[in-house]
Amino acid sequence: MVRTPSADDEIFELRLARSAVDLFPMLEALYGAREDYPAFRASLLKTLRKGWADRPADLKRLDLQRDLEPDWFQRPGMAGYVFYIDRFNGTLQGVLDKLDYLEDLGVTYVHLMPCLKPRSGDSDGGYSVMDYRQINPAFGTMADFEAVSAALRARGMSLCVDLVLNHTAKEHAWAKKAAKGDPKYQDYYLMFDNPDLPNLYEQTLVEVFPDNAPGNFTHYPEIGKWVWTTFNEHQWDLNWANPAVFLEIVEVMLFLANRGVDVLRLDAVAFMWKRLGTRCQSEPEVHMLLQALRACSRIASAAVIHLEEAIVSPGEMLPYLGRGKHDGKEGNLAYHNSLMVQFWSALATRDTRLMTHVLATHFPDRLTNATYATYIRCHDDIGWAVTDEDAAAVGLSGHAHRNFLSDFYEGSFPGTFARGALFQVNEETGDKRISGSFASLAGIETDPDLATQRILMGHALIAAWGGIPLIYMGDELALPNDEGYLTVPEHAHDSRWIHRPRMDWPLAEARHQAESPSAQVFRGTKAILARRRATEALHAAHPIRVVPTGIDALFAFQRLAPTGTLLGLFNFTERWQHLPEQIARTLGATQLHDALSGTPVLPHHGQIALPPYARVWLT
Ligand code: GLC
Ligand code: GLC
Repeated sequence: MVRTPSADDEIFELRLARSAVDLFPMLEALYGAREDYPAFRASLLKTLRKGWADRPADLKRLDLQRDLEPDWFQRPGMAGYVFYIDRFNGTLQGVLDKLDYLEDLGVTYVHLMPCLKPRSGDSDGGYSVMDYRQINPAFGTMADFEAVSAALRARGMSLCVDLVLNHTAKEHAWAKKAAKGDPKYQDYYLMFDNPDLPNLYEQTLVEVFPDNAPGNFTHYPEIGKWVWTTFNEHQWDLNWANPAVFLEIVEVMLFLANRGVDVLRLDAVAFMWKRLGTRCQSEPEVHMLLQALRACSRIASAAVIHLEEAIVSPGEMLPYLGRGKHDGKEGNLAYHNSLMVQFWSALATRDTRLMTHVLATHFPDRLTNATYATYIRCHDDIGWAVTDEDAAAVGLSGHAHRNFLSDFYEGSFPGTFARGALFQVNEETGDKRISGSFASLAGIETDPDLATQRILMGHALIAAWGGIPLIYMGDELALPNDEGYLTVPEHAHDSRWIHRPRMDWPLAEARHQAESPSAQVFRGTKAILARRRATEALHAAHPIRVVPTGIDALFAFQRLAPTGTLLGLFNFTERWQHLPEQIARTLGATQLHDALSGTPVLPHHGQIALPPYARVWLT
C-alpha cells in the first residue's frame, strides 16, 4: 500500500528543501572529505526526521506561527530577564511561583541559566554539564521543566536555556568512556599522547582563567593523555572536527526544542574550532558549524532561534550575527559586548567620544534576520574589549585606558564611585577583568541617588538600541555586591560570584510602596519596558545610526522608523547638559516629544535641558 504523505510530512519536506542549501554545503566543506560522510549525512537526516516526528502539536503550531511572523523576536514587546534558578527562587517550582513578578516587570523572555545536570562540586555555575538530557536534580525534574515552559508559553513569554557546545564536564558519559580508553569517545575530545602538540598550540592561545585554570591543556597521568581544557580542568573541549559530535549535539538541540525551549543560548562558541598557529577563536569553521546548526533548527523546530555567546571585539563579534555569505543564516541573536563595555567606559570618563567612535564605525545600521542581545550586566566579568586602534582614534592609549577602567571599577581610582572586584588578573598581558553588580559598579554604596539614575539610564539605553534588552536578575532592584561567595569553598576562587547574589524577595515585595533606590529602580525599569513596548520605532529591524551631537557628555543615536525618527539622548555625566534645539530637529526629532516619559520637551532659549544621567527618546 502506498502511504500518502500527511500535511505534517509535507511541512517537514518543505522546510528541509528551504534550508538544505544552508546546511549541506557547510557540512560538505567541514566533513565531506571523510569516508564516513555519506553515513553521517544519512544519520543526520534521520535525526532531523525523528526530531520533527517527536515534536508536540502545540510546538508545531508555534513553528508555523513564527514562520508567518519571522520578526517575532525583534519586536519592541520583547524584554528579557536572566537568572540562576537556585538564586532566584530555589527550584523550577519556585520559578512558577514568581511568574507574576516577572510579568509585573514587563518580562517576555526568560533565560534560565544552566539548568541541565552539572557535575557535582564546582561546576562553573552549571556550565560543566554531565547530562544534556536531565535537569539539574537540585532544581527539579524534566516534568517540572516542561511545566515551566508551558506556563511561560501560556503567558506569551519565551524560554531561553544554555547549551554548552564547546565542552562537557569530564564526568559526562562520553568523557568517562574516553577516559577508559574507548577510541570512539576519545575522538569526541581533543586528546594527545604527549605534550608536543599542546605546547605548539599554547604558543598562540590565550588563557581564559589564568588565575585558577592556567594553560589550555590538562595532563592526566592515569589516562596517559593531555586533554584540551580551555576553561576549567573539569571542562573538556569537544572535537567538532568529528561529525559524530555534530550529530550528538543536534539530537540534544531537538530534544530541548521539543520540551518547549524557544531560544538556545550557545555558550562560548568562539572556541569551537582549533587551528594551529591561531588563538583558536572565531575560526571560519566556527561560522560554518553555527550556520549548519541553525539550519537544523529551522528544519526540525522552526520556532527556535539561536543566541550565540561570543564575548569578543566588535569586528570579531558581528560574524556571529551572519556576515558575508552567512548573512541572515547564523545567530539570530548575539551579545552586544561593545555596547556594554562602552557604557561603562563612558560612565567612568564622563565622555562619550570613544563610545560614539566604536559604535558608529564598527556596526552596520541593520542586520538580516538577526539582532542584538543588549545588556549592561550579566553573570560574567567585564573584559575591557577596547582595541588600541579605537582608543588611538580618539586620542587615548588603549593600554592606559583599559587600566584606568579596571582601577576605576575595582574602586581603587581616586574619586571613583564604583565598588567592584578584580577578576583573573593576567600578569603576562596586564589584563585585569572586573566583577561587580550593576548597582555596585554604578555607585550604589557611594551615592545611591546618582547610582539610581545611572542604572535607569543603562536600562533605557539597552531598551532603545534595537534588540532584546536583557535584565540580569537583581539589577531591577539595584542589588549590591554579595561578598558571601568568599565563604563558599567552590566559589571563593571566582569573584564572578560577587555579582550573583540571591534574590531579595522582601525588597521585591516592597517595590510598589517604598521610596528606596531599589523601589525606584524597579518602577523606573518597569516604566522603561512598558514605554518600549508601546514605541513601534524601537522595532529591531529599523536601522540605527549613532550620531555626534558636538557635546562630549552626550551619547546619541537615531532609530530610523518609517513613521519618523526617534532620537535617543543619554547624558553620561552628573552635570546638567544643554543641547541646542536646532541640533535635535536636524537629527530628526521634529515633534520634540519624549516617548520615554510620554511628555513634550520644552526648549528654553533654544536649548533642551538634560538633567544628570538623563535619558530621552525624542521623536
Ligand atoms: C560562558 C559562560 C561562563 C562560563 C564559560 C565556560 O562564557 O557565560 O560563565 O564560565 O562559558 O562555559
Ligand atoms: C571570556 C570568554 C567568554 C567567557 C568568559 C568567562 O570572556 O571569551 O566566553 O564567558 O571569559 O568569564
